[in-house]
Amino acid sequence: MFVSEKAPAKINLTLDALFKRPDGYHELEMVMTTVDLFDRIDLYQTNKSITLESSSGLVPQDERNLAFRAAALLKEKTGCDKGVHIYIDKRIPVAAGLAGGSSDAAATLRGCNRLWGLGLSDAELAEIGAEIGSDVPFCVYSNTALAQGRGEVLTALPAPPTCWVVLAKPNHGVSTADVFGKLRVHAITDHPQTSRMIEAVKKRDYEGIIRHLGNVLEPVTMDMHEDVRQLKERMLRFGADGVLMSGSGPTVFALVKQESRAVRMVNSLRGFCQQVFAVRMLGVRRESVLDDVRTK
Ligand code: C5P
Repeated sequence: MFVSEKAPAKINLTLDALFKRPDGYHELEMVMTTVDLFDRIDLYQTNKSITLESSSGLVPQDERNLAFRAAALLKEKTGCDKGVHIYIDKRIPVAAGLAGGSSDAAATLRGCNRLWGLGLSDAELAEIGAEIGSDVPFCVYSNTALAQGRGEVLTALPAPPTCWVVLAKPNHGVSTADVFGKLRVHAITDHPQTSRMIEAVKKRDYEGIIRHLGNVLEPVTMDMHEDVRQLKERMLRFGADGVLMSGSGPTVFALVKQESRAVRMVNSLRGFCQQVFAVRMLGVRRESVLDDVRTK
């Protein structure tokens, strides 16, 4: 038996931190959505064990991989005695602020749920996903949502108006824990207006979305990596309607309406960073790569 799942990247239209919690996490408010850049997760049923392989040498190929942990946790929670071989065709940049690892874990939860015939709901998968990482519950749905709490308290929103999203990742990663570790919540002066962003998304108001893009982690990562600031300036100069760093970075995304402008921007940025993509805003989860469970 074999199933395949798409694991799309997410971007933050807003990211606000309200306070640091006693458990060390930050209480967040984020408006997140999904873009048409995805890893492909192929899952092959095996007897008992879990094994993992990836097209990219940049991700661990053992239990340190979030997708491996997702399969192991799902087995543990449900008492399922089946195994899986996970193959990750990696396209989302790693350590980039695009939730690639979390999305791989979420797709593994969805796919193993089908492969093993467990019959769990998305809500049940999201609850299990929260134990793997703060962004995993969002990625189980991979739609558009307001994420609160650690990131696991989700309120679904309609998809934003479609546009082009140019994603550019500097030639280095960042650690989310490092960025949050340097954030001083009391010193934040420029909090995003989350409710305004929600209104803009609900009204499918593109200009409103552009106006209310905001991420309190952006100045923190920029202070660590000057090239993130330069990248943002460049994208604005090359004609972006709006530009923001996603998550803890270092990927910066630009929103543009016109395809021709998105293509020009990609070409202009290629000399500056290796990983540049122009993709469509999705806002909703696409169906799996292959429609249904297939017998191999
Ligand atoms: O939940 P996850 O393992 O993805 O989080 C990675 C790190 O990011 C955490 O160890 C923590 O340092 C930081 N974080 C945080 N507040 C959140 C989410 C993550 O401080 N809401």
